[in-house]
Amino acid sequence: MKKLIIGNWKCNPLKTSEALKIFNKIKKTAEASDFANTIICAPNIFLKDLLVIKSKIKIGAQNCSAAEQGAYTGEVSAKMLKKIGCNYVIIGHSERRNLNRETDQEINQKLILALKNNLIPIFCLGENKKQRFDKSTFDVLKKQFQEGTVKIPESGLKKIIFAYEPIWSIGSGNFADPKLIKEVKIFLLDLMRKKNKKIEMKIIYGGSVNSKNVSDYFSKAKMDGVLVGGASLNPIEFSKIIDKARP
Ligand code: PGA
Repeated sequence: MKKLIIGNWKCNPLKTSEALKIFNKIKKTAEASDFANTIICAPNIFLKDLLVIKSKIKIGAQNCSAAEQGAYTGEVSAKMLKKIGCNYVIIGHSERRNLNRETDQEINQKLILALKNNLIPIFCLGENKKQRFDKSTFDVLKKQFQEGTVKIPESGLKKIIFAYEPIWSIGSGNFADPKLIKEVKIFLLDLMRKKNKKIEMKIIYGGSVNSKNVSDYFSKAKMDGVLVGGASLNPIEFSKIIDKARP
């Protein structure tokens, strides 16, 4: 199976011209690769500009509303994202859980609406430094997984991309040991097996991924892909990451 190489641009870059420049530089490598499916999750303001470019790169948003439409100032719904041509949406990123106080219940609602509108959710889960230190990582993941996936039927569960992103590794340069990531993968597979035996779960890793450590996440941790923040804004580095999907 092709590896999922997902770029999360967060609140970057500042101008459309810069967004187009980065995208067009990534495009060549992404399209030449037989081993990677590349997805760029950009700020909403750039989505339409990226969607008009003829490319194999898929486009995603970084959040959607927990409501479909109505009096929700500042929100953008899953339905709107689908209507402009988006295919993916990141849901439950730790920055949104922390800075916007998103709850597991809201995240569940967003996942339900994304699936209802035929968007593929990239569902982020992960513990913070204190929780890792307290040895509560697996309790945290269990709660996020179980509460996030309430009332999602088999047809929806099999579409979700689960992104394990330990908060202590995001943007810190402290990338996680692939051995530890593999343990998390086994734990998540087990949680899913208890919920539904038939799902072939897609699990990716995110947190300080770069061209030097990415191969270990594929070969040692057996990840189905990576979610890349900082390095996805550097087209040379991101292209190298895409190239590392080659077995
Ligand atoms: P990072 O971010 O690669 O900059 O650590 C990952 C993410 O937040 O998705």
